[in-house]
Formats: sequence, structure tokens, C-alpha cells
Amino acid sequence: MSADPLAALAALLGPRGLITEAADIVPYAEDWRHLYRGAPPAVLRPADTAELAAAVKLCAKAGLGIVPQGGNTSMVGGATPSENGREVVLSLARLNRVRALDPVDLSLTIEAGATLKAAQDAAAEAGCRLPLSIASEGSATIGGVLSTNAGGNMTLRYGNARDLVLGLEVVLADGRVWEGLRRLRKDNTGYCLRQIFLGAEGTLGVITAAVLKLVPAPQARVVAFVAQPNPEAALAFLNRCQRHDPAALTAFEYMGEHGMSLVLRHIPDTALPLAHPAAHYALVEFSSPRAEPGFAETVEEVIAAAMTAGEVLDATLAASEGQARAMWRLREEHAEAQKRAGASIKNDVSVPVSLVPEFLRAAPAACAALMPGIRVVAFGHLGDGNIHFNLRPPEGMAEADFLARDHQVMDAVNGVVRLLGGSFSAEHGVGRLKTYMMPEWRGGVELDLMRALKAAFDPEGVMNPGKVLP
Ligand code: MLT
Ligand code: ZN
Repeated sequence: MSADPLAALAALLGPRGLITEAADIVPYAEDWRHLYRGAPPAVLRPADTAELAAAVKLCAKAGLGIVPQGGNTSMVGGATPSENGREVVLSLARLNRVRALDPVDLSLTIEAGATLKAAQDAAAEAGCRLPLSIASEGSATIGGVLSTNAGGNMTLRYGNARDLVLGLEVVLADGRVWEGLRRLRKDNTGYCLRQIFLGAEGTLGVITAAVLKLVPAPQARVVAFVAQPNPEAALAFLNRCQRHDPAALTAFEYMGEHGMSLVLRHIPDTALPLAHPAAHYALVEFSSPRAEPGFAETVEEVIAAAMTAGEVLDATLAASEGQARAMWRLREEHAEAQKRAGASIKNDVSVPVSLVPEFLRAAPAACAALMPGIRVVAFGHLGDGNIHFNLRPPEGMAEADFLARDHQVMDAVNGVVRLLGGSFSAEHGVGRLKTYMMPEWRGGVELDLMRALKAAFDPEGVMNPGKVLP
């Protein structure tokens, strides 16, 4: 890169807005899973949308690729620049203001660099809830969760991130700004542009702010942790909970025994809240916007009926906020526990909800046939048919040898997913890791249309190059 664009960026962004020291760039250059390490010549940290737009214009003119980055928590290398030295990281960290909150509209207007946790807290302070929750919410930012259309723990009740967005502000690849921050519940005026940017992983433009839907804060909440004999029982119990009260069922998370044992081993201050370990567990949350007397008792009745039917072997209800948090930690620390345990190959797949048990039987068999002794960590959002089906090497296999076979392992899992009519990426996106799967899974008309969109929104290919599209 010639000195000129960097000098121009320095003049535009000032000393707080540009990082060029190699040592300071390192944390932005690598993804948290250490799958990729890029070589960006600079990290841009604009102070506001206008500065960001001007910086994008400069980069586009200089032919520099732009890699938007929020909390850098991508599971698929979606926010990591390439090794070619021609892509800068665009950090949204300084765009982190709450612009407006309206508890009557039930809407929150917030900038993209705010963490999801900060957005949740802002909503809570106003007696509302932002009904989006993921394990990495303390670091993940609004721009990131919207650009990846994050799912998470409440999708079965409130939908994915894209279902919670009323309006967007976006900086386009040529530096123009689309002011789409409308907070309308109804607006049928042509193509729904916001949905095109949501889930586009920063390849079509940079989301700089959003209007998000809120719901009233829950006044009653019950969190239960149950042991189950098999995946079929887990599905039957999910169905029972939905029939009991679909409006109150807020989360239904599945955990297999191996993942749970990793959490108990590697995460401090964790303990199984049941007397005996089991092969399968579920964490279930019910909530209500009313302080309903007897709310917990009705959940107890549902669980008692599930026990009678053999769907649940043992169960416990959180008796305090602290206990509820401890139960959620067992689920949310799965990714971290796996990381501490060593190498893993991740699959974030979905199948129709009714076929999850079939998947949970067929996928381990397919992996074992490929690599005897391979260890399965299966957990996730059973309520959405979204299982994180992660694999660890057989005892004694070198991690590098295991990781070298990642495509084979992913392909074995995806073979089962395909037979069941599922998707190879339910919520983590495509990023850099899974672009190679796109032609096989989304080829033909679908990929043609995606390429046409890319050409229309980013004809020079400056926005997050090498992601999503092969
Ligand atoms: C989760 O739900 O905890 C994640 O999406 C994690 C993962 O796949 O490891
Ligand atoms: Zn997940």
C-alpha cells in the first residue's frame, strides 16, 4: 500500500481513529478461534457515521478492502482480514451510543459498536427487554449480530436477529449513507432493503446503527434443568412445553453428556445441579410479562407429567436468580470449555425440529465411520432445530492431524444434514470458513442472485472481500 491512503486516513481520523503499529494491530488481525491471521496495514476506528463514510470512500478509491469488525467473536472467520496486506479492519468500537429508546413504541435506536449486552441493559433500564441473547453477548456488538443475523437462545420465541430490526443506517461501499432508521411497524414501500444487509456479513455495506424491537421486561421467570434418557425424549419434552404455553416458552437448549463434562472440568465454579450425570440434558426457560402467581407451579406440573411419560429422568427448578444464572452458565460456557479442552471442528447445523433426534443418531455414526474414536460435543438450540455439532480428536491423535481433516469431518456431518433437509450454517454464517460449501448448497439460481446483489451493492468488491461468496 502506498503511503498516501494511510496519510489521508490519518488526517481524516486523527490519532484516536487509526492504528498502524504492528503490535497494536495484532488483536484485530486474528479471530478468537485462531483459525486465521490476516495482515491488515491499519485498523480504522472512526468516531461517527460521517467519519466512517468518508473513510470508506477513501479506501474504495485506494482499492483497499474493508473488513468491518465488532466484537471479533465470529465462529467462521467472518471479521478477519486476509493475509494479502490489502485489507484494512474497520472497527465500529467508537460508534456505541444509544440514540433513542421509546418504551411505548417498544423500540431502541442504537449504534453498531455497542455490545449486545449494553443494548440489553439499556432496554432493561427502561423496563423493556431486547429479546436477543447469545453466549458472547458481552463482546459481540449490534453491528456484528445484525450482519450475521445471530440466532441464540430466544430464537424459538422471538426469532432471529433479522426479525427484531425495524430500521437501519448503512454506509454503502461507495461511501454514501443510507438513512433507513425508521421505527415503523408497517412500511410496504418497495423492496425491503434492510433485510438485504441483515445477515450479509458486511459484504454489501457497513451497518452503523439500527432500530431494534423491544418487548416488555419479563416479570416472572422459571428456569429448569432436566436430565433426559435420549434425544427422542428431548424432542417430546420440547413439544410438551410448547403445547403448555408457546408464549411463555422462551428457551429450550439441549446439551449432551460430553460437552457438559467439559464445562464441569474446565470452567471454574460450575456444578451439575442434579444428583447424577445423564446422557442428555435440557435447559428450559419460561417467562411472562405478568407477575403471575402460580407460574412456577404450572411449569412443575409440566415437568411432572414429562417424568411420568419417561421424557424426563430428573429435574430441578432454579430457586433464585443466582441459581438460574448458574444453570445458564452450564450452557453458555460450552464454547469456552471446548476451546480450553483443545482443538475442535465446529458444525453449526439446522434440521427440521422434528428430525433433531434422527440427526443426533446419524451424525455421530457418520463421524465414527470416518474417524473411529472421534468425540462428539453436541449441544444447542433444540427448540430451533439448530445443533452445534462439534467434534474433538480421538484420544491420542495430534491436533494438527485432526484439524487437517476438517473438510472431511464437516462433509460427513453435512451429508447427514442434507439427507434431512437441513442447512450447513444455522446461525454462525458463512464467513471465510464455509464459502467452499456455497456452490454445492446454494449453487444455481440462488448463488446467481447473491452474486447479482453483490455486484449491485459493491461493484468494486471492497466490502469484506472473500467472505460468504466463493
Ligand atoms: C452457542 O450457542 O453457544 C454457540 O453458537 C457456540 C458454538 O457453536 O460453539
Ligand atoms: Zn448457538
